Amino acid sequence: MHAEIVVLPGDGIGPEVAAAAGAVLNAVAKRFNHTFTFSEHDIGGIAIDRHGEPLPASTLAACQAANAVLLGAVGGPKWSDPNAKVRPEQGLLAIRKALGLYANLRPVRTHEAALHASPIKAELLQGVDFVVVRELTGGIYFGDKTRDTDSASDLCRYTVAEIERVLRSAFRLAQQRRGKVTSVDKANVLETSRLWRDVAARIGREEFPDVALEHQLVDSMAMHLLAKPREYDVIVTENMFGDILTDEASMLAGSLGLLPSASLGEPGAVGIYEPIHGSAPDIAGKGIANPYATIFSAAMLLRHSLGLEDEAAAVEAAVHAVLDDGVFTADLAAKGHAVSTATATDAVLAKLG
Ligand code: NAI
Ligand code: MG
Repeated sequence: MHAEIVVLPGDGIGPEVAAAAGAVLNAVAKRFNHTFTFSEHDIGGIAIDRHGEPLPASTLAACQAANAVLLGAVGGPKWSDPNAKVRPEQGLLAIRKALGLYANLRPVRTHEAALHASPIKAELLQGVDFVVVRELTGGIYFGDKTRDTDSASDLCRYTVAEIERVLRSAFRLAQQRRGKVTSVDKANVLETSRLWRDVAARIGREEFPDVALEHQLVDSMAMHLLAKPREYDVIVTENMFGDILTDEASMLAGSLGLLPSASLGEPGAVGIYEPIHGSAPDIAGKGIANPYATIFSAAMLLRHSLGLEDEAAAVEAAVHAVLDDGVFTADLAAKGHAVSTATATDAVLAKLG
């Protein structure tokens, strides 16, 4: 097939890990006889430097015309003055909104060979394989805010339509996986959560009777995620709960450098694929960043935007194989045994053949 992929390298280690994932996509094209064309555009800090804004119109237009977007990371000390008028992160929020990406998928999968890097006991981690689907464009982060001298408020609001669409994404994903959805809310306290729970129950019953649905309160979910992480398949939740639970979940995998994400909208929307980590200014330019999270993100791009499941599985298998071989960057390796970004990437390319 032919696909046009926009690459937004961004800042810090963004360009380093995006280049690694680009090389992997090129190798996939070669091996499976596809033609992927790549075009690079600016986002984040580098876009502020070059265009005066974190999401130039030319970048957005290119993304809208593409089949999928691969993103590195944005931000860094150079642009982090809290009083600055424009900040790199605004570029991310703006592009997600402009492309209508309301479902943020974050798979968490442990790797036998990398269990040592997690602070959690290895016996709890073996075989962990779940995806958190976080609602990305609604809830308290987007509600009306007020502030006066002695009080402040943030409004949490969800419409039925907003809840339905993200739940459908989660149920469809579960159908392709192990057929289980855990819907997380705070229905004992919050009205938005009671609505969420009602909608989840109805969508599950009427549209996805083949998927097992359970409801979980967010506070006990925070415990279960560490105590029995193997039990989960697809976890779906609203924006703020998802923000918190995904950071917690990242501790299971051991390194931020292993965790990919996809931001998706309605079928046909242009998805964005990026590692969950940031621009890591402390290691930028040194050639030592872990490229695997971005390479796993490229696999998600193949699966969710291009429908290339075999190709996605081949990329994931290649990364698992190099992890099994102990090809670790500094975030995973024992002292003195770390390889560079380039060496880790070459190892994945070699497995892909
Ligand atoms: P960070 O994720 O960039 O780094 C946290 C720690 O993890 C650092 O010690 C870093 O060296 C390490 N790390 C991250 N990715 C790694 C990788 N691939 N390989 C090896 N080590 C890795 O988060 P931090 O330091 O809080 O933020 C740095 C900048 O990134 C800030 O400007 C922040 O706003 C931005 N950021 C951007 C995100 C995005 O583009 N989606 C997400 C999170 C932060
Ligand atoms: Mg967060």
